[in-house]
Amino acid sequence: MTIEPNSNGILVGTNLTKRYTDTLAVDGINFSISQNECYGFLGPNGAGKTSTMKMIHCLSPVTSGTLLVAGMDVMTEARRVKSIMGVVPQEQNLDPDLTVIENLIVYARYFNIPLREARKRGEEYLDFFQLANKSNSKIRELSGGMKQRLLIARGLINKPDILILDEPTTGLDPQARHMIWQKIRHLKKEGITIVLTTHYMEEASQLCDRVAIMDRGKILVEGDPAKLVEERVGKDVFQVWCEGGEKEELTRDMKSFDFSYEQVGDIIYIFSKNGDEELKNLIAGKYIKFLHRPAALEDLFLKLTGRRLRD
Ligand SMILES: Nc1ncnc2c1ncn2[C@@H]1O[C@H](COP(=O)(O)OP(=O)(O)OP(=O)(O)O)[C@@H](O)[C@H]1O
Ligand SMILES: [Mg+2]
Repeated sequence: MTIEPNSNGILVGTNLTKRYTDTLAVDGINFSISQNECYGFLGPNGAGKTSTMKMIHCLSPVTSGTLLVAGMDVMTEARRVKSIMGVVPQEQNLDPDLTVIENLIVYARYFNIPLREARKRGEEYLDFFQLANKSNSKIRELSGGMKQRLLIARGLINKPDILILDEPTTGLDPQARHMIWQKIRHLKKEGITIVLTTHYMEEASQLCDRVAIMDRGKILVEGDPAKLVEERVGKDVFQVWCEGGEKEELTRDMKSFDFSYEQVGDIIYIFSKNGDEELKNLIAGKYIKFLHRPAALEDLFLKLTGRRLRD
């Protein structure tokens, strides 16, 4: 998929490139994120997601290409760009020597928010993220989920137009993850533009209007997650656990029916464009252990980026 430069949008990257000494981390990508959109950068470890996010929030300089935020160039107007942006970094960087509320107040100082206002906002966001009762706790007394909620609260303290979330729910339990999803949806309803990275494909499917799947610094595909899955994977997946000679027989059958399939160890994944009854009957009649499920973003992710580990 070739993604052409497009100048509309609140966040526009054109041939955006990031090179570290001997690594080309982001390799000339183009994207245009609309106001109030929730846009997800997905990709295996090392794909270049964080490098892209760091250029967006002016932490890391652009090597070449351009990056405009609300029409401002991140390289020349970093201060103004930062003032309309909230950031939740991949690595938790709360100040361990301060309490929960102090972390918010001190952070607010970077934006010249008066103390009284900072405290008021801090308390509001602690309430919003169900942390009010932890206001005077030290950071080490918080659980992983609490720290992550506090990081997002901190990212909101300057009432940003754009919120950058680099893996906001990694390592959290399902309860904390769902709570954060609900808050992200709420923020989106309030008009905030959200840029997100995640390794949870369900998270991306649930939250993102569009995703870009990256690998080795490039965007491989971009679009509405459900539409991408339907176009590029299909409607259904049959997952068959094979024993003995079943694998050979099934792959022979799939070739003769012209279905696309993938073999992973003893499991064969068969992709069907339209919930094929004939295929369903064939599998149900011959195989004992199989799963018939809707195609998902994870299928597309693995199809595009492969199954090999990256680091
Ligand atoms: N400060 C740095 N100096 C040198 N190389 C770096 C630096 N930061 C990242 N890289 C390299 O750039 C590439 C992209 O890294 P990046 O952190 O952007 O990936 P990512 O998609 O965020 O991965 P993950 O899913 O693991 O967070 C990797 O090869 C990484 O080793
Ligand atoms: Mg990263």
